[in-house]
Amino acid sequence: MFDLKPLVHASKREHYDELQRQARGLLAGERDLVANAANFGALVYHSLPELNWAGFYLFDGNELVVGPFQGKPACIRIALGRGVCGTAAQTRETQLVRDVNAFAGHIACDAASQSEIVVPLIRPDGSLLGVWDVDSPIIDRFDEDDRAGMQALCAVFMEAVRG
Ligand code: SME
Repeated sequence: MFDLKPLVHASKREHYDELQRQARGLLAGERDLVANAANFGALVYHSLPELNWAGFYLFDGNELVVGPFQGKPACIRIALGRGVCGTAAQTRETQLVRDVNAFAGHIACDAASQSEIVVPLIRPDGSLLGVWDVDSPIIDRFDEDDRAGMQALCAVFMEAVRG
């Protein structure tokens, strides 16, 4: 099946470039949302260091509902505008939170989470599919390279599931 080799690259950008290639290959030829979300989450979670949660919250037309993920069991429903995920969904802007303890309204699903990045997933028609949420037990784990890398990975995911 899919062989997950440790990624050893000179830079984080190269690491993300390689991860994008792997994601494209992994999702190619499949449009099923749950199947692709599950494999995408597993790929990213096991390829990047210092993560404790990575997964999807999907918009059901009213609020965000937890979807395929890797990590400990999580909060099931999040209203738009609530927490980091709900803020990303409402503002439609990536939320890079260097210290979740300093983010008013952060929802602590796993007390280990210290920093977090959440990318909104918008369909070509402008509608909200959900958000991609990645947590780390390290403060300041994510930087601008992670923001660009995660957004590029989400673009690969959205391209694969469009239908
Ligand atoms: N911390 C998130 C909730 C989801 S969990 O991290 C898996 C938030 O504040 O939206």
